[in-house]
Amino acid sequence: MPTFKLDGQEIPFEPGDTIIRAAWKKGVEIPHYCWHPGLSIAANCRMCLVEIKSARPMALPILAWDEKKKDYVETTKNKLQPACQMEVTEGMEVVSKGAAVEKAQASVQEFLLLNHPVDCPICDQAGECKLQDYWLAHQKKLKRKDTEPVHKPKAVRFGPTIVYDAERCIMCTRCIRFCDEVVGDHVLDMRERGNKNEICVSPGRELDHAYTLMTEHVCPVGALTSKDFRFKARVWFLRSAPGVCNGCATGCNTWVDYDPRYQRVYRLRPRDNEEVNKFWMCDAGMMTYKRFHEDRILTGRVRQEGRVVEVPRDVSIEAASKVLEKSQRLAVVFSAQHTNEDNFVLGKLGREHLGGTALYLAALSPESVPGGWKGDAILRHPDPNPNRAGATAVAGGELRSTADLAADIAAGKIDAILSLGWAAGESVEQLANLANVPHVNLSSNIGPLTQVATVVVPVATTAEASGTFVNAKGMAQQFQRAVNAPLGIKSAWETLIEIGKRVGREIAFAKLPEVRAAMPATTSAVAAAS
Ligand code: SF4
Ligand code: SF4
Ligand code: FES
Repeated sequence: MPTFKLDGQEIPFEPGDTIIRAAWKKGVEIPHYCWHPGLSIAANCRMCLVEIKSARPMALPILAWDEKKKDYVETTKNKLQPACQMEVTEGMEVVSKGAAVEKAQASVQEFLLLNHPVDCPICDQAGECKLQDYWLAHQKKLKRKDTEPVHKPKAVRFGPTIVYDAERCIMCTRCIRFCDEVVGDHVLDMRERGNKNEICVSPGRELDHAYTLMTEHVCPVGALTSKDFRFKARVWFLRSAPGVCNGCATGCNTWVDYDPRYQRVYRLRPRDNEEVNKFWMCDAGMMTYKRFHEDRILTGRVRQEGRVVEVPRDVSIEAASKVLEKSQRLAVVFSAQHTNEDNFVLGKLGREHLGGTALYLAALSPESVPGGWKGDAILRHPDPNPNRAGATAVAGGELRSTADLAADIAAGKIDAILSLGWAAGESVEQLANLANVPHVNLSSNIGPLTQVATVVVPVATTAEASGTFVNAKGMAQQFQRAVNAPLGIKSAWETLIEIGKRVGREIAFAKLPEVRAAMPATTSAVAAAS
């Protein structure tokens, strides 16, 4: 591979790479605002200026202040080039840290902050803002302008999810380019000129497509904020764990941002993975974090004389073991919403130890997702389940549906059910039949399956336990626990082992790696968790 030199370091590049892209691939950052690896080149912020050494440097005639003469004098300087726009050539020598570059970076910073309100204490971007980072790294001094800044609109509603602050905007146009190039919706544009510039929504429109939250994510400053995250948490208190989205079979890679003090997840952000989601996520996927805290099942539940009674977790495990001990014709219901590890141990207990031969898969259908679900040509897969492929694979082949289970119960083929997860493609009414036989359900949230169960045992969400999903492309992707499960709740696979012990069936897995080692290789492969 050909190489060029960046500040003396040899950097490989592919034909067509710009300086900034080749450096980015090597993990070297050249300061930038408008450049984004997933968007076209705008080259409008000038933060990425670098010096290109060549035999014939481009000399610019300039006026420079002469301290002795107390006057400006004519001289020349080497013309700096935007690293985001300049293609690399073999043997090129680039300087991104010299005195000329540093002066340019400081000047760009000062220019961008001329009219900026510097309202960091009340800005949600504070702590992850490029203006702050680059001020510390490349400016470090106060601006010289001491007149009143130009005031522009603040807290402008762009749509149901995004709020715009024109005073914080640096006009990098990333948000416009994201909507144009990734979503194919020219809903944002720029109006006015110079320091009156602002981003606007097309007349008669709202910023309201399936990827609006990504505009906030690509915005390098606090100009676009998400209504959901605004004023909820300060980012320096948050920690991040690598996750995989629960929203559909694409399996977008995420960062699960949580506050360790409260063991609470505050948002999901895309984790770059060129093969799966590139740099993006959809709005619905980013909002799946709400399930980690809403509609949770935090105690055991036992149905007594038609009423659901909340009981301690341990009591629900005891009740579950009593149901399972008596069963002769057990239905085992795997879950397309649960991990391979959970489904694998479910199969061990339900099939190998308790002799269940009737196997089913509980999975959301597009119609059963609140508000409906549609795939698209960008990221969203038509299947709204993150792990249909993994659950099917660890179960050993095609599984029948929960609608089939209802029919089998009506036909008297089933005398008990062991099911995993809250999700099903049918409504509670359509699954009413499942309440006609003793039914043990392990679930983290309230859903159709929990509502037709006799005993519900609480289990951890995917933020509270590490696991593996297999996406629609067949890629096994591991994710890591972010927060602790509350109130002694454990992952479904650990809970199944506990239930197994109560019915005298020993499943000899103590740790997650042991479960993974026993699973089929295609379902346990280590993937993108980095
Ligand atoms: S709103 Fe953000 S992304 Fe859009 S132009 Fe302004 S600074 Fe750039
Ligand atoms: S496309 Fe699917 S996996 Fe990706 S963020 Fe959206 S819901 Fe999640
Ligand atoms: S990053 Fe190159 S000009 Fe903005």
